Amino acid sequence: MQLKIVSVVGARPEFVQAQPLSRALRMRHQEVLVHTGQHYDRRMSETFFDELAIPAPDWNLEVGSGSHARQTAAMLERFEDVVLAERPDLVIVRGDTNSTLACALAAKKLAIPVAHVEAGERSYASDQPEEINRVVVDHLSTLHYCVSRRAVERLAAEGLTKSVQWVGDVMLDALLQARPLAKARSRVLETLSVAPGQYALVTVHRAENTGDPRRLEAIVNTLNQLNDRIVFPVHPRTRHTLDELGISLASHVTAIEPVGYLDMLMLEQHARLIATDSGGVQREAYYLGIPCLTLRDETEWVETVEVGWNQLVGTDPELIAGHWWPAAMPAARPPIYGDGRAAENIVDGIDTAFSTGLLRR
Ligand code: UD1
Ligand code: UDP
Repeated sequence: MQLKIVSVVGARPEFVQAQPLSRALRMRHQEVLVHTGQHYDRRMSETFFDELAIPAPDWNLEVGSGSHARQTAAMLERFEDVVLAERPDLVIVRGDTNSTLACALAAKKLAIPVAHVEAGERSYASDQPEEINRVVVDHLSTLHYCVSRRAVERLAAEGLTKSVQWVGDVMLDALLQARPLAKARSRVLETLSVAPGQYALVTVHRAENTGDPRRLEAIVNTLNQLNDRIVFPVHPRTRHTLDELGISLASHVTAIEPVGYLDMLMLEQHARLIATDSGGVQREAYYLGIPCLTLRDETEWVETVEVGWNQLVGTDPELIAGHWWPAAMPAARPPIYGDGRAAENIVDGIDTAFSTGLLRR
């Protein structure tokens, strides 16, 4: 049975995950790709479509930036029109952004079933924008596709047991697919004059770090004092806050514009250490076997901490500096988030939901 499926992307981590799922979906179904326009700078959006050969979006809602309410409201309104025009059998949303929330809600109110990719992740920081989005979207969704086994248990604890499936991480599918491309095409190490294993890679963009000057200052002051070469691709949100607060970086910290995914993979893969508050980058560090410091007080990706590859250091200068030169890392990296076939598992799960009558056309 060929289904018509609207899938939603809007922000950087959603673009990275788009290609593997689009490819798997399009082998059996009609995919209508919707870009909400939440991220819109060339380096935050178009670059990913070009580099990763993501199909051109069928719709771009062009919502741009705004307060949470304004941005979400604009997406709700515009996505409703898309759903009314397309009349899909299913809407797929991923992760925990405002695009995820708005499009899940608009679809659900039009009685179109929603599939949530990356369901059941929780930081239990209930005032975090992403946590609000995750919880609401999981409870709006009919199909739940989980990266971790623990996510399945978390959903069960919230009373969500029907059609919850552990599929693994589409981000791992994307990474495995793009790694050879990155090796062939990226020249970022040469451009930045950094040698493999001789630098640390840093990213910071989460609201809890960029919305609180004390936290951002604590991170940057610590980086400035470390005796190490640091490469720091700066998210536009972080750039605005750094400029506003007049915070500058020491000369050993190379702050650059956000990079494309192939350059990012190259930078991650050859870093000695990664320090980040990004959910995607924490997982990628694990997949690539690079020690990670998470610049947050909690993480959804607890398994990476439990197996010893990720340290939660928050923004405490002593903790950051104390873990900056990690000793030997664990020998094992168990497949906590699957084997890189998440996209196929999701499409199989969707087919089963329709063939067993859980969902109807
Ligand atoms: C969003 C997600 C976050 C995710 C991140 C990925 C929400 C609530 N947050 O955060 O979970 O980790 O994307 O990167 O959805 N901006 C630009 N150009 C752009 C995009 C953004 O200049 O192309 C600037 C604007 O000043 C904007 C700010 O960044 O106000 C924040 O953008 P927004 O999409 O609201 O949230 P992110 O911090 O990117
Ligand atoms: N990323 C990238 N260029 C950058 C920073 C990040 O390609 O300059 C990629 C990163 O490798 C990962 C994804 O963007 O695949 C993560 O997105 P982000 O950190 O913006 O969001 P989060 O995962 O925290 O939601």
